[in-house]
Amino acid sequence: MATPKGKYRVGLIGCGRAGAPRGHAFNKHPRCELTAIADTDPENLELGCENFGVPGYSTYAEMFAREQIDIALPILPVRPNADAVVAAARAGVRAIFCEKPLTARLEDADRMVAECRSRGILLAAGVVVSSHPDYQKAYALAASGEIGEVRRINLYEANGQGGCHGLNLARKFAGKSQVEFVTGWVEGDPFSDHEEPYDEAESGFGGIGGYIRFANGVECYSSFSEVDWRGIEVVGTEGVIYNWNNTCTGLRLRVKADGEERVLGHHDLQEAEGLFGDYSVSNRDYDEQGWRGAGAVTPGIVQAIVHSLDTGEDLPVTTGDDLRHALEIAIAMRESARRGQFAVKLPLEDRALVMYPERSRWHYKKEVHGRGWYMKQMAQVKRPASEI
Ligand SMILES: NC(=O)c1ccc[n+]([C@@H]2O[C@H](COP(=O)([O-])OP(=O)(O)OC[C@H]3O[C@@H](n4cnc5c(N)ncnc54)[C@H](O)[C@@H]3O)[C@@H](O)[C@H]2O)c1
Repeated sequence: MATPKGKYRVGLIGCGRAGAPRGHAFNKHPRCELTAIADTDPENLELGCENFGVPGYSTYAEMFAREQIDIALPILPVRPNADAVVAAARAGVRAIFCEKPLTARLEDADRMVAECRSRGILLAAGVVVSSHPDYQKAYALAASGEIGEVRRINLYEANGQGGCHGLNLARKFAGKSQVEFVTGWVEGDPFSDHEEPYDEAESGFGGIGGYIRFANGVECYSSFSEVDWRGIEVVGTEGVIYNWNNTCTGLRLRVKADGEERVLGHHDLQEAEGLFGDYSVSNRDYDEQGWRGAGAVTPGIVQAIVHSLDTGEDLPVTTGDDLRHALEIAIAMRESARRGQFAVKLPLEDRALVMYPERSRWHYKKEVHGRGWYMKQMAQVKRPASEI
């Protein structure tokens, strides 16, 4: 097991805006130790090695050849994610945390999941609110009949990042039932009738929505609008679970009062107190070492990975397989929109279908926005010792 100190050795792949703080969050956990970094940008690599006091490598292949890594963290532009996850799995790691969106192409998502699954490697994915303990509690309450039989999920979300936020949530509240078919609408899709060249992706989508029919009978209506609202209502025969900003905590559960027959809306339901935390935006204050706060979700993901490695239990947080399904639903809705709202059955047979995230996620942000913008962003990740 792990290092002489009984810690899991963590290898960070990509020490950029998001990678450095994710690496720090793992390093802070008493059972983890960041032991190596791989980054193709010498400037970020040097900064990361200095901050963490660990060896650095210009490729992940070299890192895996020289270091024994237990947990790999590919925190990369989306384009190299699939190859990095597959390489980590083949190098013999025991767990991988990959940032979201997972990838653009279904067959890439398939091979990421298959390489990990066939070797029993945990694949967690994305700092997403769906991994927060309050949401885990909410899925369990919905599954246990707390709001009666779940019938309908109303989602307010543009689903631009391959469905990794809203569609992933909807599927979890639907008990991860297989999707039978979808119909979809798309707004602001410049490539609505052809695919971009894979390596030169420029743009994402304005919005993707539609109707999702799960095999267990749950129906989801996913709508987007000019207003960038993100919310969810999980409607059951006896009550509702909702959050009117599902990028944050602040879930609510309302149920019919005993003997109540006629319920016409939320006001006729009683709120269950004390189940979930209040609405809160992540605390981004700096810690004693000068690192910007990790937010409400990341520490729970680190703890969940350590716990699953220790016990062999399934990951309670969002996985690569979850984001693969969310991507498939989003792509299917786009295919439906292309065919004039024709119902599209899942699983999709054509695994070559893609949905790119926005350009600055697909590519390296320093190349997209320029070095000046990028280094200002990097300066906000960790404050110099003189400012602490
Ligand atoms: N969940 C969230 O809230 C959240 C927030 C921010 C970013 N993200 C995601 O995290 C990921 C990374 O975002 P970022 O802003 O740190 O990206 P970034 O553009 O800063 O790039 C990350 C780093 O990856 C390195 N890199 C690129 N290709 C590489 C390769 N083949 N091998 C090794 N290193 C390589 C770059 O040099 C850079 O240091 C993205 O997928 C983004 O969508 C998620």
